[in-house]
Amino acid sequence: MGFLITNARIIEKNNVLRIVEILVEDESIAAVSETGTHQAKETIDAKNMLVLPGLVDPHVHFRDSGVPNVAQKAKEDFSSGSKAALAGGVTVALDMPNTVPPTVSVQDYKTKAANASKTSYCDFGLYAGASNDNLNEIPKMLDAGAIAVKLFMGSSTGNLLVDSAEAQEKIFALGAELNFILAVHAEDEECIRFHADFYNDKKIRSHNEVRPAKCAETAVSNVIDLVRKHNNPTYILHVSTAKEVELIRSAKKTLPVFMEVTPHHLFLNESDEETQKNRVKINPPVRTEKDNEALWIALNNCTVDAIGTDHAPHTLDEKRKPYWEAPSGFPGIETRLPLMITAALEHRTTLEIVQRTCCQNPATIFRLPNKGFIAKGYDADLVFVDLSEERRVEDEKMFSRSKWSPYAGKNLRGWPSLVYLRGRKVYEHGTFFGPFGKEVTKN
Ligand code: DOR
Ligand code: ZN
Repeated sequence: MGFLITNARIIEKNNVLRIVEILVEDESIAAVSETGTHQAKETIDAKNMLVLPGLVDPHVHFRDSGVPNVAQKAKEDFSSGSKAALAGGVTVALDMPNTVPPTVSVQDYKTKAANASKTSYCDFGLYAGASNDNLNEIPKMLDAGAIAVKLFMGSSTGNLLVDSAEAQEKIFALGAELNFILAVHAEDEECIRFHADFYNDKKIRSHNEVRPAKCAETAVSNVIDLVRKHNNPTYILHVSTAKEVELIRSAKKTLPVFMEVTPHHLFLNESDEETQKNRVKINPPVRTEKDNEALWIALNNCTVDAIGTDHAPHTLDEKRKPYWEAPSGFPGIETRLPLMITAALEHRTTLEIVQRTCCQNPATIFRLPNKGFIAKGYDADLVFVDLSEERRVEDEKMFSRSKWSPYAGKNLRGWPSLVYLRGRKVYEHGTFFGPFGKEVTKN
């Protein structure tokens, strides 16, 4: 039956840390109370460790379409990706549709969902992919359970691209009609192509030069114009520049737009390309120190709604290729929580903001019932963190099959030591139990 977690330190309003006991019954939290209120057959002493709601990662690329693909499996699949998720405290991962084959029809969707249901160690939701010509399939994928719709306005990994203005507009209109969350990769394709042609035969100093800020800024203002017209709920992925922050901050006053930032756009910039080269090649690119600063300010004044990792498990071998051939993206699902908690402990942000942007807001924005909060009635998805434990990021210790991290060598605090998923222990000090992951439903 149930069990009682005692001496759990949870984060409350105004960044207050409170010691509580959490009663878990079946898959849910039955009570959060003062110590000594309840009794249960089994008691787990959290020993004043920080206990967070299971993290929601609204942006991952596990790559697993459910169609066997040997080359891909060597890099990641739902099993390895979801283990990496748990090691990073993530109990719900929302997976992107730019797989091989892409998730653009209800049949693709069902194949992917069936496989993930069998193999995932964490709960998951799947995006439906928008293409230039699959408008009829989108409602069917949503009926089959798709958590949201992903629109690539600019091309990135895979060939999922909606570059026709007419098709883009129809997707925004459909979003208003069906009230789904539209998640947009906002980089302008024409701008990307123009710069790629220009730099084609030149020496490349920085990916940020080849795929400049203005491509993202043009696309974001285009997105805002479309939302102004259609008023459909829109989640702008991986915002990376100071200018985009300003555009979105003002749009948010009247429009249903949400803003995501990634850890890498907070922590990395062009100067990291000097040492890390193509390892930190990503779309949108890591920008400038000024942009980092603008994103930290936006995080701390609550303009940022959510932190998504954009976990993209390319291998180091692929990253060693020359600039034009090296793929964009890198793994990040295991390091989001330690990076953010360490930043909070260094007073660059607060634990309350970390909890809000990594757990609560993504659950609320994506309308996940019973996820994201430590409160009565919510799923008992719980992450224990020993704040005194410091650990170095090491490539070999990553659970993602891609086996590396752009943060290797950094000493971080905030690593999960124990994770519960719907009342079940699924991770403890590097050991996994499962797979027990289920597809999430939406309100
Ligand atoms: O750098 C990126 N990599 N940006 C994306 O939008 C996609 C991702 C991937 O799937 O590899
Ligand atoms: Zn992505």
